[in-house]
Amino acid sequence: MEVIIRPDKEKATELVAKLIAKAVRARPSLVLGLATGNTMEPLYSKLVEMHRKEKLDFSKCRTFNLDEYVGLEADNRNSYRHYMDEHLFSRINIDRRNTHLPSGTAKDLEKECEKYEQKIKKCGGIDLQLLGIGRSGHIGFNEPLSAFFSRTRVKALTPTTIAQNSPLFDRPEGMPKRAMTMGVGTILEAKRIVTLVVGDSKADILAKAVEGPVTSMVSASALQLHPKCIVITDAAAAAGLQGKDYYKWIFENEPEWDEFR
Ligand code: F6R
Repeated sequence: MEVIIRPDKEKATELVAKLIAKAVRARPSLVLGLATGNTMEPLYSKLVEMHRKEKLDFSKCRTFNLDEYVGLEADNRNSYRHYMDEHLFSRINIDRRNTHLPSGTAKDLEKECEKYEQKIKKCGGIDLQLLGIGRSGHIGFNEPLSAFFSRTRVKALTPTTIAQNSPLFDRPEGMPKRAMTMGVGTILEAKRIVTLVVGDSKADILAKAVEGPVTSMVSASALQLHPKCIVITDAAAAAGLQGKDYYKWIFENEPEWDEFR
């Protein structure tokens, strides 16, 4: 795992946007794994800006989102399909048929999850997976005690996650208590992973994920097992990291990062 600490949220977000843009330019038909949430909103704005100003071309890209709430129709303004359309898909030149999220209203949710896994496989797997980390330590909606070999399935959300996300709902008490999510095993199969974590509310959980023991009590700690995972963070979220100075030294001295410094 490689940890890169940028001075603030804007710089961390910009670096992730540049990495994604570089990957899309290198492989226009990139299979991109996407996340939702507060952290990703400025990132998607940045990608939209790069599309408009630098002609970043998404026309051949294929995308798979990590998760969707059970019971919400695609056009519900709190669904993740709606979030993606609003923040990214409707603002870039992606072919909507190439954008995938599990359907939270499928009649047979288990079958829908299996179909989702098959679709990912058919596209050749995820080239670059974008992740955030929740306060419960989740990636996607893999709450504590998710098996590291888990695949796309329905998960019950924890009180920590309900407290984190319910303020985003028109009626906080109406937030679904279950979601469909790629499994930890699905995520770990991505060829590359970029994780963006910002803000002081994530400092404790980031330290556990990056430097703590690998444990299913913190799903994000499974990322330590991935051969090509980068965590990009800001000074506020990095405050609890013991290796802060060491990560900084590596970033400053690694020639591979020259173009990003
Ligand atoms: C959502 C997802 C979640 C979020 C996490 C952080 O698709 O995958 O794991 O990345 O809950 O959310 P924010 O950015 O709102 O703190």
